[in-house]
Amino acid sequence: MIRIIKVKDYEEASDKAFEVMKEFIAPGKVLGLATGSTPLGLYARMVKDHKENGTSYKDIRSFNLDEYVGLEITHPESYYAFMHRNLFDQIDIPEENTHVPSGLGDDLEGQAKKYDEMIDASPVDIQLLGIGSDGHIAFNEPGTPFDSGTHVTDLAESTIRDNCRFFDNDMSKVPTQAVTQGIGTIMKAKNILLIATGANKAQAVKDMISGPIDVSCPASILQKHDNVTVIVDEAAASLL
Ligand code: PGA
Repeated sequence: MIRIIKVKDYEEASDKAFEVMKEFIAPGKVLGLATGSTPLGLYARMVKDHKENGTSYKDIRSFNLDEYVGLEITHPESYYAFMHRNLFDQIDIPEENTHVPSGLGDDLEGQAKKYDEMIDASPVDIQLLGIGSDGHIAFNEPGTPFDSGTHVTDLAESTIRDNCRFFDNDMSKVPTQAVTQGIGTIMKAKNILLIATGANKAQAVKDMISGPIDVSCPASILQKHDNVTVIVDEAAASLL
């Protein structure tokens, strides 16, 4: 079941997301985390709350959704670096409790399988998601089977175009592959929190919520999950 929360803009979406997330920031919880522009406001609120109220992440574990293939973790646009810069280095979560899939090494599929095994051993309490303008969740592009586990994937051209803003606006600098949690992996999370803001997400939001459940819109599978909260701003909700 998808519960839809409509808000005015990005700031309100981030406030609302923090309200939902806050319930899960407690000892023993497992957070599923995401990268991209969407969660930045939420992460800023988590950092502020940690600094001002002492909310602790010492007994929390986290699993990220995805990582580019071939970028060193020291590359500023690696998702490992993104997570450390925007969240992990500013709260008290122990490094060993955080997990970001590795996009380096010569057995990426083997590593992906191990990543799923780790998640199975520590089921995710709440998975944070953005949505791609093509309806992707994590890097599960249109056509990805709904039962997929963590795997290596090619990025859709639209995703490379969307993400080139982080790579000097040069599409040739954007990695062409990623390791991503599969849709089957994401669907195992007990709760899902998806945030969508901005007009370029409007069609994907409409397809996710009211379109057929079809691999052409990966996010449409969320209609089958028991516990999904979708926070949308006015622009992203404009086609609903
Ligand atoms: P964005 O990406 O948050 O940078 O818009 C979302 C996504 O591609 O899942």
